[in-house]
Amino acid sequence: NKPAIYITRQLPESVIAPYRNILDIEMWSKSEQPVDASTLMDKAQQVDGLVTMLSDQVSSELLGTAKGLKAVANLAVGFDNIDLTSAEENEVVVTNTPDVLTETTADLTFALMLATARRIVEAADYVRNDEWKNWAPYLLAGTDVHHKTIGIVGMGRIGEAVAQRAKGFNMNILYHNRSRNTEAEQALQANYATFEELLIESDYVVCLAPYTEETHEMFNTQAFQKMKDTAIFINASRGKNVDEEALYDALVAKEIKAAGVDVYRQEPIRASHPLLSLDNVVALPHIGSSSEETRTAMIQLCLDNLIELFNGNVAKTPVTEKKRLST
Ligand code: GLV
Ligand code: GLV
Repeated sequence: NKPAIYITRQLPESVIAPYRNILDIEMWSKSEQPVDASTLMDKAQQVDGLVTMLSDQVSSELLGTAKGLKAVANLAVGFDNIDLTSAEENEVVVTNTPDVLTETTADLTFALMLATARRIVEAADYVRNDEWKNWAPYLLAGTDVHHKTIGIVGMGRIGEAVAQRAKGFNMNILYHNRSRNTEAEQALQANYATFEELLIESDYVVCLAPYTEETHEMFNTQAFQKMKDTAIFINASRGKNVDEEALYDALVAKEIKAAGVDVYRQEPIRASHPLLSLDNVVALPHIGSSSEETRTAMIQLCLDNLIELFNGNVAKTPVTEKKRLST
């Protein structure tokens, strides 16, 4: 009698197949669409475990009514889509996918920073649109990244991996975090700063903080006003860490120079989103951990977590109250 699980998105059968010996696996069947809330609600009542996406809301209503549900494996390092308090009350174990995505997400964050600073998207469009008529001294001149100051807000694993990349670019590294990260200070020559100091001194302000009540719209009008007018803002964490209207206004008023954004308050955004009307914005569709290798590793980690739990062991990467407070 194999434990039954439901996966809320169609994942490659080649990755899932080896697990079918151990788990009774059902998957959402539509390849281009996410599961709808009522199907998720229904399936949750019938299974021992769920594999969920960051776009699924795992609500207290779902957790309270799914009587047989023992575990939710979220295919993401973030878990703000899951009502953790309710999961604990209902004794449902929640797991996430840290570590396996750290380097890949740091690569994307750094790529977004470089792309924004050096106007890569604009420049590629310029060539593709046949606008390149001659060489010019300041043609699509961007801003240097090397030897500048990067301010990392949220110095967890991904923040450290971004700092490591910044070190290779001879950047001066500042960070702000809920708690001091003395390891990063020593290994990466990262200097702790208050949020305000970091905003005032950084050329690149990079948000990698998980979304919590405390970080809700921490990048607001006042925060953007404190930044240099040459500052570039990068968000690769969660959209709700930013007041999007304030970001738009700061870009229009030239209180900051540019922004690179991978995440939004409400996803997906449409082409009519105000930020997309600005040339100095590079906007990506929440692809931080999206390499083929890493997405496969994340799926495998979700399934391995469920198997450990169903075998009566501790999950490989559980989200616990303690972990939640220390990331
Ligand atoms: C992606 O945003 C994640 O949390 O893994
Ligand atoms: C976030 O939780 C991280 O790994 O940095």
